[in-house]
Amino acid sequence: MIVNHLFNRRVIFVVGKGGTGKTTVVAALGLAAAKNDKKVLVVETQENDALGMLFGQTPLREKPSVLGPNIWGVRINSKMVLDEYIKRYVTVGFVAYQIIHSRVFEHFAVAAPGLKEVMSLSEIWRFEQKRDPETDAFLYDHIIVDSPATGHGLSLLRVPSTLKSMFQTGPIATQTGWVQDMLQDSSRTCLLSVTLPEELPINEALEFERTAENDLNIRMASTIVNMVYPKTFNTDEVKAIEKLDHLENQKNNPLIEAARRHIARRKLQQVHIRRLTEESEHPVFQLPFYDTNNLAWEQIADIAEQIRTGLLKLK
Ligand SMILES: Nc1ncnc2c1ncn2[C@@H]1O[C@H](COP(=O)(O)OP(=O)(O)OP(=O)(O)O)[C@@H](O)[C@H]1O
Ligand SMILES: [Mg+2]
Repeated sequence: MIVNHLFNRRVIFVVGKGGTGKTTVVAALGLAAAKNDKKVLVVETQENDALGMLFGQTPLREKPSVLGPNIWGVRINSKMVLDEYIKRYVTVGFVAYQIIHSRVFEHFAVAAPGLKEVMSLSEIWRFEQKRDPETDAFLYDHIIVDSPATGHGLSLLRVPSTLKSMFQTGPIATQTGWVQDMLQDSSRTCLLSVTLPEELPINEALEFERTAENDLNIRMASTIVNMVYPKTFNTDEVKAIEKLDHLENQKNNPLIEAARRHIARRKLQQVHIRRLTEESEHPVFQLPFYDTNNLAWEQIADIAEQIRTGLLKLK
């Protein structure tokens, strides 16, 4: 098994389908690393403010701001980054303004799809390169990116390869090259994929792993299976409940029915997780399902502790 230890990677893209728990994992992993005395920047790439909301700071700004001890947060506004880029390379301010606001610009962005994405990735690259002016050490030990859900985040990560074939020279080509180097350098960057303990999401997570590693040449560190039913009953209790379920006078007992459903669901989830563990090249880490509508800070802190004492210790 090839283990890409998370703690050795400075840039961690948390990827996965919509609603699997990416933002939750970004926040918890950030807290866990910060508690281990690492300087962490968590990065929001969406416009939904979910990450800022978890830290009680909305919206996150385009410049890193303090979210807690050892932890900073930033939002990447791709439109703004692209505007800045145009301003930088089209030196006459007024003309730059005109281009940004003209239809020509819109056509340019459409003609070079992915330009915004590569600019967002360039912004991450800039954070990765940032050094403390006094010590010259890297400013952030970890940059944890809450990736967009589209195509598991692959559409964002695929962009540099596509753009590289469109621009062979010039500033865009240079920047794309830096970004691509960062993404494909397994000593600097890794992916942490988040999925759910069901058949389809597990199939997709495996497919994602193969595409990321084989086609895009970007390393995975681990897959997190989130919202796994916890082991509520021990083996003897399971047997007792299954026996009760067969008794005629207990058939419609709602408590037994609920317990039986929990046991059956957990069993099935574990079958899917076992398959993932067997087929994946990387460690699989489980996070429990919390029976609540929306996770509170207390649960995020609990997940952070599980990540700190489990996932971050995986060798
Ligand atoms: N282990 C868990 N148990 C129970 N609820 C959870 C768990 N993890 C996340 N949730 C809840 O599920 C919802 C989705 O989580 P989250 O926002 O982290 O997912 P996401 O992948 O970032 O979603 P999106 O793709 O919409 O950005 C949230 O309401 C969150 O509180
Ligand atoms: Mg999210």
